[in-house]
Amino acid sequence: MNIYQEHILDHYSNPRNKGQIDNPDIYYKDTNPLCGDEVAVYARLDRSKSISEIRFMARGCAISQASASMLTEHVKGKSLDEVYGISSEDMLRLLMVPISHVRMKCALLALKTLQAGILVHMKGKK
Ligand code: FES
Repeated sequence: MNIYQEHILDHYSNPRNKGQIDNPDIYYKDTNPLCGDEVAVYARLDRSKSISEIRFMARGCAISQASASMLTEHVKGKSLDEVYGISSEDMLRLLMVPISHVRMKCALLALKTLQAGILVHMKGKK
């Protein structure tokens, strides 16, 4: 196994920020339509509207769980605009392994879920 695969397995076996947040400012749950796996994201914001706390719950493959874990570490302290601006390519770079076309939805599920939650939060504030 190479170091990149170990990076995925490490996050899969020891997920960072797994769990829930009571009364989160942002919550969203989504499903990978190809397999039915789910991820739910919870986030709390500080006064400057940056993510102060983030957690996730997920049922799915190693790639989807590891990407959720890596994403939560990556976005802590970032503003909502910054997180909303994270591209699919940015997410794939975080994973550090080449992702095949069929696994793309697994790799991007957590990012898309978090960004959907941010959108709902922003619409609710208008
Ligand atoms: Fe279901 Fe990867 S196989 S999220």
